[in-house]
Amino acid sequence: MRIPIIAANWKMNKTSGETRDFFTRFSEFPKPGPVEIVICPPYPLLSLAAELCQSGGLRLGAQNMYWETAGAFTGEVSPLLLRDLEVQYVIVGHSERRQTFAETDQNVSRKVKAAFAADLVPIVCVGETLQQRQSGRTEAVVEEQVAAAVGGLDPSQVRRLVIAYEPVWAIGSGLPANAGDAERVAIFIRRQIGNLFSLKVARDVRIQYGGSVKPENIADFMSSAEIDGALVGGASLDAAVFTAIIEAGLGVRAS
Ligand code: PGA
Repeated sequence: MRIPIIAANWKMNKTSGETRDFFTRFSEFPKPGPVEIVICPPYPLLSLAAELCQSGGLRLGAQNMYWETAGAFTGEVSPLLLRDLEVQYVIVGHSERRQTFAETDQNVSRKVKAAFAADLVPIVCVGETLQQRQSGRTEAVVEEQVAAAVGGLDPSQVRRLVIAYEPVWAIGSGLPANAGDAERVAIFIRRQIGNLFSLKVARDVRIQYGGSVKPENIADFMSSAEIDGALVGGASLDAAVFTAIIEAGLGVRAS
């Protein structure tokens, strides 16, 4: 059985004081289980968040990393340092990195391999732009991104992978995908992994939906057995709202 995974992508938000406040407020709400809750703060907040995650039973994730372990790469952060800071997950290939920072499929592939080598679990983001969707290329785009991300991995690594299907047009727009469409893409991805590896491997891969997830719509996505959780941006910044997302998402699983 796949354990649901709901991750908070804080992007370039919060100070250390705001981070402490978030964890204090978040700890006030009871969490239904079983679920993995992952908090992905900006790099400079990782060690503070590591402490706070540990006492709250939460997992820690980073939003990015470089693929080399050390060296002359000014401004970059290595997988080894993330591991040293008790990070367990790392977001790779977010559309903001792909679009604003020219991240390519080849870079995503390097980062995924480097993450596994450092015993970090990558959360690989895939998804089409509005233009690609409108020209009927959603599956082709996602297929190419997934193929690049899993190429050269061992089945044992792929089984641990998390894939976040995030249509680019749904991110930060307030316009989430239709749950049926998201489910269809999740099925498409799982079938692709099945063809590339095996059904057994495909059954273990966790697939999240991301893009304007809110307490009001998470149940639409998580009521599908194909969608194992969510990658939440804006709505993860407020502890009460993020808690409401977790409750509504898991509530639909329990019913
Ligand atoms: P959003 O962002 O929830 O603010 O749409 C999601 C993401 O970028 O992962």
